[in-house]
Amino acid sequence: MKNILITGGAGFIGSHVIRNLVNKYPQYNIVNLDLLTYAGNLENIADIETKSNYTFVKGDICDKNFLTELFRKYDFYGIIHLAAESHVDRSISDPMSFIRTNIIGTITLLNAAKTAWKENYNEHRFYHISTDEVYGTLGSEGYFTENTSYSPRSPYSASKASSDHLVRAYYHTYGFPIVISNCSNNYGPNQFPEKLLPLIINNIKCNKPLPVYGKGENIRDWLYVEDHAHAIDLIFHKGKNGETYNIGGSNEWTNIKLVNKLCEIMDVKLNREKGTSAKLITYVKDRAGHDLRYAIDSSKLQNDLGWTPLVSFDEGLEKTVNWYLENEKWLQNVLSGDYEKYYQNQYLKR
Ligand code: NAD
Ligand code: TYD
Repeated sequence: MKNILITGGAGFIGSHVIRNLVNKYPQYNIVNLDLLTYAGNLENIADIETKSNYTFVKGDICDKNFLTELFRKYDFYGIIHLAAESHVDRSISDPMSFIRTNIIGTITLLNAAKTAWKENYNEHRFYHISTDEVYGTLGSEGYFTENTSYSPRSPYSASKASSDHLVRAYYHTYGFPIVISNCSNNYGPNQFPEKLLPLIINNIKCNKPLPVYGKGENIRDWLYVEDHAHAIDLIFHKGKNGETYNIGGSNEWTNIKLVNKLCEIMDVKLNREKGTSAKLITYVKDRAGHDLRYAIDSSKLQNDLGWTPLVSFDEGLEKTVNWYLENEKWLQNVLSGDYEKYYQNQYLKR
């Protein structure tokens, strides 16, 4: 059995990555290392918890001694590193936690793996999961390619850019076996309801205002989370050492158009008269340094590794909305506690 370490597997994307790997590769022993911060929720992977090829370990990627012990206990073949602080708005109000987890955490993990694998780097793989936000912002034209210069503009994207640079530096300096991917905005089940889609779906359901930042003209490229999980599987197994792969949905939406689309879907689901939910739309103060547009050119991944997104946006939105409506208990558990306080600071002050 090959031991594979997944960091951040109790989070949104990590939970889908773990489910896919645990079910698809019985010959792997998947170890999920997660600190269970506000964003980590073991309910996300309750369905695979008892599988014999899955183990959960609570721990911090910034804790060198803990990682040394973990690498002693498990002879890891590979690592898929997703653990991070991931929300731009939080990075604006608390940048230091992003520096700690995303930068210090990544280099601490790199060092633990480098020490453990020093005899035979080439029999291993360190896969770092990153974001398209490291490239900065686009005007109305053009796409991010793997050769686009980094130009991060939020503490979140700057901390992710820094971690990408460190991972790449380990390849060039030490010949460390790394691969990186940079993905566009994900959506789907289990996303923490501070991010746009789950927040809007929940607020429509609860008849609360739908906060749209600025004029709602910012553009994001949306990808269904399972399509990202499949790309991660492919890159982990087939990607080339030292390479970067961009992942995107070729699916650009202005925020206001997307919020209106969700309102239409929810009116039907909740048997409300057409136009009812859209009345909740409320324009609020813009995010500081709000990037205008992200758009990904994923042709390298498509041409070199044969990846293609399988879930259309209509299908993905239908699945996502249904999931949030059918998983009331998950939502209530998440909405209680820390999130509630955060929500008040973030939105009630706007
Ligand atoms: P998330 O916030 O839902 O989950 C992050 C997970 O990391 C949580 O389970 C949390 O408990 C864990 N974690 C945080 N700090 C930790 C620490 N010090 N030690 C161990 N675990 C820790 O994030 P997500 O949206 O699932 O994103 C996962 C990764 O994908 C991140 O690296 C993010 O930058 C990247 N990414 C996200 C998106 C997106 O749209 N969500 C798009 C592209 C890339
Ligand atoms: P978000 O889901 O936070 O992802 P990111 O900032 O990483 O792209 O936000 C997606 C877009 O939606 C972004 O342009 C900010 C905007 N937005 C709102 O207009 N209202 C909201 O309440 C939130 C959370 C985001």
